[in-house]
Amino acid sequence: MEAQPRWAGPGAYGIVTARGRRLGIVRCHGVGASEDGASAQGRTDVQRKTTIATALRRRFPEQVVLVVTRDAGGRANVMPVAWTSIVSGDPPMLLLGIDEAAYTYELIRSTGAFVVAYPSEQMGAAVLQAGAVHGRGRDKLAEIGLATTPARRVAAPLLADAVANFECELVDILRPGDCPLVVGRVLAAHVNTDSTVQRLCVVGAGHVLGGVRVLEDTVIRPEAARQRAAGLRRARPAGMLAGKGRTSRHEAH
Ligand SMILES: Cc1cc2nc3c(=O)[nH]c(=O)nc-3n(C[C@H](O)[C@H](O)[C@H](O)COP(=O)(O)O)c2cc1C
Repeated sequence: MEAQPRWAGPGAYGIVTARGRRLGIVRCHGVGASEDGASAQGRTDVQRKTTIATALRRRFPEQVVLVVTRDAGGRANVMPVAWTSIVSGDPPMLLLGIDEAAYTYELIRSTGAFVVAYPSEQMGAAVLQAGAVHGRGRDKLAEIGLATTPARRVAAPLLADAVANFECELVDILRPGDCPLVVGRVLAAHVNTDSTVQRLCVVGAGHVLGGVRVLEDTVIRPEAARQRAAGLRRARPAGMLAGKGRTSRHEAH
């Protein structure tokens, strides 16, 4: 029988309910699990045209962050954001797609500062709660019961139980489409002292949240993949690799 990692018991796949929303845990397979691209060569039945929305529903797992701000009166607010990315390494910068209607957007523009936190798997219910209501005129953090701890460089607090926190200053807001893209420069970073705490992700449409694990026996690391490709090139005659009628330029790739 195939060896299973410790977390891969029946409980790891269970779907539980938190405030009417589903929270799930998915397995994340390494590239080795879908490395059979060569067998689909030339087939026309492997991809069907669909709507953009339908194709985007296949994007999971997707990361989610919690954006923490503080208003002029000293009250902190929190908002989950799934549209996020690292956009610069030096200087370090993060990007957040934040709807104009979000109170967080208003606070980022007025204060020029915010914290980006990676929520842990244990924070799933809090993430859904934070994303269900606007923070204007209420103490969302206290209502949800998320613990905070002071930041070093910005007024917004860190989330104590997060996997990591990044203190950011606003550097730009871009508008390439219908969602403002907030770019923040990272001023300071913090990690949870418990290195075993795992990050929460969006694992399905409709904000289904859960943990993601790598199945070690399915992982192919970049170096191993290169070696495998080199082995295939050596083992097969060039014509087989490129297909009949292809030029040597194609064979080289
Ligand atoms: C998992 C999850 C991901 C979300 N991602 C985004 C996002 O990327 N951008 C956005 O504008 N809203 C997103 N939302 C919705 C906001 O979090 C929601 O509108 C929130 O109530 C705004 O809070 P605020 O008005 O207190 O800032 C997400 C919600 C959830 C639950």
